[in-house]
Amino acid sequence: MKKNKKQSNIDFRFMSFFFKIRDKFHPPINKIRNANIRDGEIVLDYGCGSGSYTIATAQNIGSSGKIIAADIHPLALKKIRKKAEKMGYINIETIQTDCATGLDDESIDKIICFDVLHNIPNKNKILKEFHRVLKPNAMLSFDDHHMNEEEIKEFITSKGLFELSEKKDKQYNFIKT
Ligand SMILES: C[S@@+](CC[C@H](N)C(=O)[O-])C[C@H]1O[C@@H](n2cnc3c(N)ncnc32)[C@H](O)[C@@H]1O
Repeated sequence: MKKNKKQSNIDFRFMSFFFKIRDKFHPPINKIRNANIRDGEIVLDYGCGSGSYTIATAQNIGSSGKIIAADIHPLALKKIRKKAEKMGYINIETIQTDCATGLDDESIDKIICFDVLHNIPNKNKILKEFHRVLKPNAMLSFDDHHMNEEEIKEFITSKGLFELSEKKDKQYNFIKT
């Protein structure tokens, strides 16, 4: 089976720079609002990158909530820990992983997964992991501009693990079945 590979450090730094510019035109808070993230929730940001959506979530869940940032790349987690420290957020945790999160079964209120799964070899395993860690009827908020609407719906719903509840802009909210 093909292994998941992380980017080189240079590629990761370049991507992070690009995301800084992207975030000026498309503020991350919009996707967090589309995912209906609320105060006190425990949220997993899978494939968090340099943390645009992790930080926007940390600002929305208050000190009783928690955002868990997961990524295959150690630089992603290093950057997020640095930002969290600088901004004084104590509600951010980080996990380095390419699939298994080590989180408890049914422990997460929401997963956000933006622009991550398009060319990952084991994406079906990751989807199963999402299903395992989400609480009953909890939500996976997904977008990926590399996949069209049909591909997204087929990939997420075809195994019977999730069903589509709503589409907001190009973001799809699925409920765990
Ligand atoms: C295009 S970036 C998107 C980052 C972030 N979600 C955003 O939109 O700003 C994709 C991220 O997924 C991470 N990634 C790739 N394969 C992964 C895997 N198997 N497990 C966890 N993260 C992965 C990469 O390291 C990268 O940070």
